[in-house]
Amino acid sequence: MQPRKILDLIEPQTVVEGAGVLLKRSIATRTLDYLDPFLLFDHFGSDDPADYRAGFPLHPHRGIETVTYMLAGIVQHRDTLGNAGSITGGDMQWMTAGRGIMHEEMPQPDEGKMEGFQLWVNLPAQLKMTKPRYQEVASKNIPEIERADGIRIRVIAGTVENVRGAVTEIFADPTYLDVAMPAHTSFTHPIPHGHTAFAYIFAGAGKFEGASKTIPHPKLVIFDNGDYVHAAAEASAFRFLLISGKPLHEPIARYGPFVMNTRAEIEQALRDLQNGTFVQS
Ligand code: CO
Repeated sequence: MQPRKILDLIEPQTVVEGAGVLLKRSIATRTLDYLDPFLLFDHFGSDDPADYRAGFPLHPHRGIETVTYMLAGIVQHRDTLGNAGSITGGDMQWMTAGRGIMHEEMPQPDEGKMEGFQLWVNLPAQLKMTKPRYQEVASKNIPEIERADGIRIRVIAGTVENVRGAVTEIFADPTYLDVAMPAHTSFTHPIPHGHTAFAYIFAGAGKFEGASKTIPHPKLVIFDNGDYVHAAAEASAFRFLLISGKPLHEPIARYGPFVMNTRAEIEQALRDLQNGTFVQS
């Protein structure tokens, strides 16, 4: 059994997205365009509503899944599947856009602190035009493990100590864990050989296999191949997301919120949008 060593450390970049939302982006940048099957990873977080209140007005997606996990704040959302409501601290939504969905994500202004993550997971060619699917999981329905050593693990997807995650039946066979480690603890989690794996440290500082010193937040840590990830908290506590998935090894053609295999499929998406045939019931 081989530990997964650190392959690369990625410094999140500040970008402005949507109608003017300030966020930290680690995947979908010039430094890291694609981490197959992950197309984008954003960390939004601010105490100032001016950084996020413009939100993400109605926009389309095709060919991907978008995963939103909230730590704090309120986001009101609605989509063309008929879902509408708000998600708040600890909630998550896993949206399979497939052949086409339009949605809106609007942070509630003047509620103070807002923090969360958005991940885009690619779909394989045979599922790019699948029927859209939406899974929303309230915080209370996300399994949480509290170990004797104080480590707390929220299992969004994947399995930890025989506890199955809240989201299942996703093509990428993903792991999505929120791991909080007190000082002087260690944590090991198996990841299938050949799957892509990364951690995103968003609080405190800690170590993974191959680190000569502790890695402070915020940082995206890409792991090399192997059988398991090993994390160690030394003098300080730390908290990170551990995410993995099966790579697709397929060509990608990318245009904003559409990710397909060919340029022709992107052009088709734009035509469908123009013709009003993008969203099908
Ligand atoms: Co969106």
